[in-house]
Amino acid sequence: MIQPLCVLQRTFSRGFAAIHLERHQKVEFCSTFDASDSIETMVSINGLKKDRFPCPFLFPFAQTSCTIETVTTERGRGMSIQEICRVAECTRLGEGLYSITMHAPAICGQTQVGQFVHIACGEGNLLRRPISICDWQDGNLRIVFQVKGEGTKWLAARKTGDELDVLGPLGHGFDTAVLGAKPIFVGGGIGVPPMLACAKKAAGEGAQPRAVLGFRNKDAVILEEDFKAVCEAFITTDDGSYARHGFVTDVLKELMGDATGVAACGPKPMLKAIAAIADEAGVPCQVSMEERMGCGIGACLVCACALKSKNGETRYGHVCKDGPVFDAKEVEW
Ligand SMILES: Cc1cc2nc3c(=O)[nH]c(=O)nc-3n(C[C@H](O)[C@H](O)[C@H](O)COP(=O)(O)OP(=O)(O)OC[C@H]3O[C@@H](n4cnc5c(N)ncnc54)[C@H](O)[C@@H]3O)c2cc1C
Ligand code: FES
Repeated sequence: MIQPLCVLQRTFSRGFAAIHLERHQKVEFCSTFDASDSIETMVSINGLKKDRFPCPFLFPFAQTSCTIETVTTERGRGMSIQEICRVAECTRLGEGLYSITMHAPAICGQTQVGQFVHIACGEGNLLRRPISICDWQDGNLRIVFQVKGEGTKWLAARKTGDELDVLGPLGHGFDTAVLGAKPIFVGGGIGVPPMLACAKKAAGEGAQPRAVLGFRNKDAVILEEDFKAVCEAFITTDDGSYARHGFVTDVLKELMGDATGVAACGPKPMLKAIAAIADEAGVPCQVSMEERMGCGIGACLVCACALKSKNGETRYGHVCKDGPVFDAKEVEW
């Protein structure tokens, strides 16, 4: 299979309908594009920078064609790289819960918080498995996952020095800049890992992040110390076996007074409740959605999700390329 060099957020509306661009692919361009087109997010093609384009929506290769060598987009999300990554550490965090740190300098160089990687999980598993990027530093990328089926079982059995075939970073991540000076990061269960990098990024940008992390019970609690090293973190358990008895939404409501934005990842009912709380408080809310995935790059339509278009009608987006992170107001709950 040819791996895409660039996965565009949207298809061009006129003249050019390709979803992703591949190295050495010859593409035809039309002369103009609508303001809604992905050209806005594209920084350069073959090293020719967008600011050298004659006008924002007039492409330099007007009415001609070019062979793609490199494509860079503004938020880095267009660059998906296939990298063979050596496992630096695979740790068991709890029953069926694992953390893998792998050497992935190329992917780390492009990663934005909230994006995911698509990992080949052994020869018997044809489809790659999507796993959120939990954190990355000095070319090492960390994922935290729960064993669900064959793919994640295979992944959990990796040892230091093993190689992983990883495609990433994929998707559209969180935009911490719009969450303001006092953002709240909410994670539920295995939705907790991607919120760690978000909280770190917000803290690094001078914000005062807080985290609210919910788990089924004491045994399911993960990453508590990692979050506490970055920000104030509140833990809840559904059964009260550890920390506060209750749901993340109970704590969130209490913290909303001075919150400037909310970002969340977890089960859909939790995200829906969080979106309603943020809406009532009048602050921006971003949610990371999960759908079963096939290709992970916008080509197979497996991950379709219902979204609201500007005129209120339902439209369908792809969790893998339009998401996984969406503005909560965009989601058809
Ligand atoms: C964007 C995104 C980020 C994710 N991040 C994490 C994470 O950080 N940690 C974590 O533990 N899990 C995460 N998941 C869920 C994880 O992808 C699934 O648990 C995993 O694919 C299950 O694979 P399996 O072979 O073990 O299970 P099986 O059930 O045997 O999988 C069969 C097929 O269904 C797909 N599938 C099954 N469950 C899911 C699911 N929930 N989402 C998407 N595809 C699924 C698999 O990819 C595979 O193709 C994420 C899912 C998405 C979509
Ligand atoms: S997983 Fe194939 S389009 Fe999203």
